[in-house]
Formats: sequence, structure tokens, C-alpha cells
Amino acid sequence: MIRLMQASDVQVVVEIENLVQSHPWTKKQFEESIDGYLATVIEQDHQVVGFCILQPVLDEANLLLMAIHPSQQGKGLGFKLLDESIALLKNNPVQIFLEVRESNQAAIALYEKSAFHQIDLRKNYYPKKEGGREHAIIMVKTCGDDFSQLFK
Ligand SMILES: CC(C)(COP(=O)(O)OP(=O)(O)OC[C@H]1O[C@@H](n2cnc3c(N)ncnc32)[C@H](O)[C@@H]1OP(=O)(O)O)[C@@H](O)C(=O)NCCC(=O)NCCS
Repeated sequence: MIRLMQASDVQVVVEIENLVQSHPWTKKQFEESIDGYLATVIEQDHQVVGFCILQPVLDEANLLLMAIHPSQQGKGLGFKLLDESIALLKNNPVQIFLEVRESNQAAIALYEKSAFHQIDLRKNYYPKKEGGREHAIIMVKTCGDDFSQLFK
């Protein structure tokens, strides 16, 4: 089940974030995202096992962050979470943008399956935990293939 993130979810969300990210978001960032962004969670057996943060901006959106608990990865949950979270965006975005570490092949494959494609590279954008930096890949998904809306 996918639903909006609530303040009571933040502790579990931070735990998942700390398990998967080398430079994790803070508790405060997640708390602020509940009001400022579209923050969603996915539950399995009544447990929060993943989250997604989308930032609507005018008629576009940015995918800021998403993760699935390591024990639940590879079961299709990330794809479902992303797809259903995008559907919850109220601004009906024309395009959705994201940045992803070049080394994050699992995420890049998920995004490609979700119809994002690579448009640019931001060189030496991310710091690496072990030192040095790595490139960010910029991806975009064009939404609203249903042009019937335009002629209503
Ligand atoms: C990226 C992430 C969210 C994917 O979630 P997931 O639930 O494991 O992904 P799914 O099971 O829905 O997989 C969907 C598709 O993604 C791709 N994919 C997922 N895991 C993969 C892996 N380890 N290697 C290669 N491709 C992978 C596949 O194309 C897959 O489709 P398929 O099963 O038909 O082959 C998850 O790996 C994760 O939380 N990673 C750590 C946090 C992170 O990197 N977040 C994204 C950047 S902010």
C-alpha cells in the first residue's frame, strides 16, 4: 500500500535512509518534506519499507529521493512506489527530473524501466564516502502522453 508520509513515519524512514545512503538526509529534512513536498511511503504487512520524495515545481517535478529497505529490494516495490507516487502529484507535471549517482546502476535501471531517460551529466557532482567525487546523471521523464486533456 502506498500512502502519504506522516510525522510518525519519519523515524522508520530515517532508519531506511541511513541503511542505504552514504550521505543521508536528516530527520529534519524528512519532517520538512511532509509539508513542502509530496512525500509518500510504501507498506508491506503494515510496516513502512520504503519512501519517495517528489518536489512539484510549477508544471514540472523533481524526484529528490527514494529508497526501499535492503531486505525488501528486488521485489518490484520501488517501481510501484515511484509509479504510484508520480500519479499522486497534483500539479499534473509535463516533465519529471532527477539526478542519480553514475555508480547507482540499480536506481538507473529502475528509472529507465519507469520511462526516464538520460539527458545530461553533471561532472564530479557527488562527494564519495571514500573520498573523491563522482558524476551525476540527469534523467527526465515526459508525462502526459494523453493529449486529449488539451482539447477539453
Ligand atoms: C533503487 C531502489 C529504490 C530500487 O528499488 P527496488 O524495489 O529494489 O526495485 P524494483 O524491485 O522495483 O525493480 C524495478 C527495476 O529496477 C531495476 N533494478 C532494481 N534493482 C536492481 C539491481 N540491483 N540491479 C539492476 N537493476 C535493478 C530493474 O530494472 C527492475 O526491473 P525488473 O525487476 O523488471 O528487472 C533500491 O535499490 C534502493 O532503495 N536503493 C538504495 C537507495 C537509492 O539508491 N535510491 C535511489 C537514489 S536516491
